[in-house]
Amino acid sequence: MTKILFVCLGNICRSPIAEGIAKKMAKEQNLNYEIDSAGMSSFHKGATPCENSQIIASNNGVDISTQRSRPFMHKDVKYYDYIVGMDSMNIADLKGRGVKNPIKMGDFGYDGENVPDPYLYSGFLGFEKVYEMIEKSMKDFIEEIEKKS
Ligand code: 4NP
Repeated sequence: MTKILFVCLGNICRSPIAEGIAKKMAKEQNLNYEIDSAGMSSFHKGATPCENSQIIASNNGVDISTQRSRPFMHKDVKYYDYIVGMDSMNIADLKGRGVKNPIKMGDFGYDGENVPDPYLYSGFLGFEKVYEMIEKSMKDFIEEIEKKS
């Protein structure tokens, strides 16, 4: 069993999409993964994914509506085999919380680019970009970790 945690700031926009896509791909490829997501802030604890994330996921056949935001916890550091952040701030925060080798989503297929915080975008376009980026990166990420296992 490979355990993977996706992390962003609020755990309402980007990492819920990552969790949804990873679960879908794992199911399609029959991979024995335990997958979750968390936020570096506890600001939105208990909240459902933001509406635009739910819509873009649903448009792509991924239901993320049952997810609830939860903060990153100290026990996550040891529990997960891979902890994947969406931007350089997440990576810095994870290191500060004791994660030795956090992985950056954009290191897979995007030369280390940040998955942009869609809070900073207006409208739906930012979410389409975020979805496309995470989907492409996820394919490469899964391929890479499967090579290792
Ligand atoms: P996320 O997006 O990190 O992709 O879930 C954000 C959600 C909320 C905030 C920032 C980013 N916020 O500052 O409340």
